[in-house]
Amino acid sequence: MALKLGFIGARGMVGRVLLERMRQEKDFEHFDTIFFSTSQVGQPAPEDSCEEKLWDAHSIESLSQMDVIISCQGGDYTNELHSPLRQSGWKGYWVDAASTLRMSSDSCLVLDPINKNLIKESLRNGTLDFVGSNCTVSLMLLALAGPLKEGVVEWVNSHTYQAASGGGAAHMRELLKGMGYLYKKHQNLIDDDRGDILALDHLISEDLRNASDFPKEKFGAPLAANLLPWIDSAVEMGQTREEWKGMVEANKILGLNDSLGVDGTCVRVGALRSHSQALTLKLKKSVSADELEKMIGDAHEWVDVVANNKEATIKDLTPAAASGTLRIKVGRIRPMKLSPDMMNVFTVGDQLLWGAAEPLRRFLRILLEDKA
Ligand code: HSE
Repeated sequence: MALKLGFIGARGMVGRVLLERMRQEKDFEHFDTIFFSTSQVGQPAPEDSCEEKLWDAHSIESLSQMDVIISCQGGDYTNELHSPLRQSGWKGYWVDAASTLRMSSDSCLVLDPINKNLIKESLRNGTLDFVGSNCTVSLMLLALAGPLKEGVVEWVNSHTYQAASGGGAAHMRELLKGMGYLYKKHQNLIDDDRGDILALDHLISEDLRNASDFPKEKFGAPLAANLLPWIDSAVEMGQTREEWKGMVEANKILGLNDSLGVDGTCVRVGALRSHSQALTLKLKKSVSADELEKMIGDAHEWVDVVANNKEATIKDLTPAAASGTLRIKVGRIRPMKLSPDMMNVFTVGDQLLWGAAEPLRRFLRILLEDKA
């Protein structure tokens, strides 16, 4: 008999990307899927459902009937429902995109090209909560899978260029509205190729600083024609939570005891849905750029190594090139002048695919393998 899968949050952005990928890969053929909703209970369910209507995502009784629950509903939902459901005695698998359960000692982070063995071991040991990790962490580890497996990396200094989609759908709109706001307001000066660029810059800077009608509610400050070097809340030692996740989640995925150092600055930029990262690798031994490139490129089927030249880089190592694909682009691989055991790497990947939805749907396949 097929496992009963409860899908929660299919209408949100991550949920929609997950739904589409599961359709493409025919994942629904292996489950009896029921779609749950927090706000549209009783309305028609998607075609992949074995029930005509959406079930109530707040009903412990209905949720308890599932063998597996996959949630893209967000952290508040997980906070509210996960504990009561477990307390009711439910022993199914909870698969989650939200960060709530990531650092719980009872959960396993899923990123199978990196930690399939750990996932399988966790299944054997009776772990029931499986969580996708932070998008920048997943994308960084997929880029560095080869050197990490070879054990040559001592620490990683990562500086991120994170897309608006990391904030959510409304944040993407806000970025685009900000671009439109500036163009509409200053169209004459922008279109006048012989106009005074410094006067235009002055007007735009003035808008970014003071215009009360500039679209900035979601990010708290203008992102268009700007960047924001702060993501999420503050934690200790001046770090942001997004920066803190880098080390703790990477080590948990790799099954290490915080022995891999990861730190840097997380920055929101005006890209739409692909996150980029500039990485400085401190190596445990001297490795040439060619050797590192080979380690990176041979690690798994999703890596595209981009040659370190201008033409290839501006064509292929960009959010524009990565968005909507499962490709993990890695380039700018070169030794750093700082020290012979330091390497420079730049990587880009889609924040909604490998950064969120893909590890979850691939976990479902591993679960099926395990149950077969
Ligand atoms: N926290 C990430 C961001 C997205 O704000 O870009 C989710 O992993």
